[in-house]
Amino acid sequence: MQKKETIALEAVSKTYSQGAVAVHALGSISFKVHEGERVSIIGPSGCGKSTLLHILGLLDVPTGGKLFLDGTDVSTLDEQQLAHFRGRKIGFIFQSFFLIPTMDALSNVALPMMFYDVPEHARLHKAQLMLERLGMGDRLHHLPSELSGGQRQRVAIARALVNDPSVLLADEPTGNLDSRSGEEVLKIFDELSREGKTIIIVTHDPNIAKMSPRIIRLKDGNIESDEKKR
Ligand SMILES: Nc1ncnc2c1ncn2[C@@H]1O[C@H](COP(=O)(O)OP(=O)(O)OP(=O)(O)O)[C@@H](O)[C@H]1O
Ligand SMILES: [Mg+2]
Repeated sequence: MQKKETIALEAVSKTYSQGAVAVHALGSISFKVHEGERVSIIGPSGCGKSTLLHILGLLDVPTGGKLFLDGTDVSTLDEQQLAHFRGRKIGFIFQSFFLIPTMDALSNVALPMMFYDVPEHARLHKAQLMLERLGMGDRLHHLPSELSGGQRQRVAIARALVNDPSVLLADEPTGNLDSRSGEEVLKIFDELSREGKTIIIVTHDPNIAKMSPRIIRLKDGNIESDEKKR
């Protein structure tokens, strides 16, 4: 059976206007990603990786072209529907984590559920299960400043997963990790993709890209190659 198309881009472009100067961050990007696929996006600094990820995460809008998520043309969604997509269908892992420094690991992970009428005990329970799954069960009440870089990364991943999104987007998710913690994070991504989540990772790390079943290489805002391993 053909798997569901979770992401489809049709000639997506992005131009930033910097005063009189136009920066063409994305030329014309088209590709499809199916349910459960794990894709790495690589390419030199400034080639448009983060721009593309922000568009996929509905944090930025393309200048031209179309983006479909789960078959829906996102340009037809109103603000409320967009917020719903952002909050429930997409998990975003930012390079700098954006954890709330005054909240412990458990509360950081429970936070995204606040916006969806989940009662507090259920929120904390779900957050705890997610942290346990990521091997963080003994660090629930540590503040971010009391955690190692790799542990903070796992809190950020748990938070991105807690609303059970179908798409997980990660910008340099192993950028701050030693190779062993990086591999652990990758193992988690691999497990998640086998559970049917679509995972898109932006990375500079050639080892991560090598372990990915599909690699999209960007150059100057366009796709240079799109390779699937068999
Ligand atoms: N808000 C903005 N305004 C103007 N230009 C921008 C803006 N954001 C990004 N750019 C430009 O768009 C291009 C693509 O930027 P982007 O952040 O997507 O690159 P990247 O591939 O993620 O690079 P890196 O690997 O260094 O993170 C760059 O030339 C950048 O200078
Ligand atoms: Mg970037």
